[in-house]
Amino acid sequence: LEIVSLQQLLLDWYQTQGRDLPWRNEPDPYKIWVSEIMLQQTQVKTVIPYYQRWLKQFPTLNALATADLQEVLKAWEGLGYYARGRNLHKAAKYIVRHHDGVFPTQPEAVLKLPGIGRTTAGGILSAAFNQPLPILDGNVKRVLARLIALPKPPKQAVSQLWELSERLLARDRAKDFNQAIMDLGATLCTPKNPACLLCPWQQHCQAYNKGIQSQLPMKEPS
Ligand code: ADE
Repeated sequence: LEIVSLQQLLLDWYQTQGRDLPWRNEPDPYKIWVSEIMLQQTQVKTVIPYYQRWLKQFPTLNALATADLQEVLKAWEGLGYYARGRNLHKAAKYIVRHHDGVFPTQPEAVLKLPGIGRTTAGGILSAAFNQPLPILDGNVKRVLARLIALPKPPKQAVSQLWELSERLLARDRAKDFNQAIMDLGATLCTPKNPACLLCPWQQHCQAYNKGIQSQLPMKEPS
């Protein structure tokens, strides 16, 4: 794999073709955290109005921590998976109690918060602080499975895919790189009919070069 070429191609593509989303260029880790939790199981275009309303209602981590759970769950209404809203509230209280109300910057501390796993921690800390932490959500799994023509279902290669995400990450531009690979998965490297002709990684993509992009990633046997 030509890591440096892949990084450069993706970052250049992102500069002109990346999406303009309300949480991009947002320096406040609280707001980035809210966006990442909403985006865990909900599409970007659904999330945007909820995100904006949420921040009007709970503009700071402290405002969220001191709000009533009922009010928080009401604001979550329509997003589904209510555990996410509950966990945001619980984690905000935890941060007030254990971190003086300041969103933690250490990955180990972030991973202890309810509702935050490795991908969400990497997503938040790379976006907020440019920390060189990889991500591996559904979009990224599909992009990487195609890039290397992974001959098995991603679930059976999770540690290999994490290693690849870590190796590919442009460590000095982690924030942009992670946003870029998510955009690639969401806009070009889609589950059906991927737009390979527009893809900055086309020439490097093993699935494309074998003509099997539509068959990847492989499905779990059901
Ligand atoms: N999905 C998860 N995090 C995201 C982000 N920051 N931008 C776009 N889609 C995402």
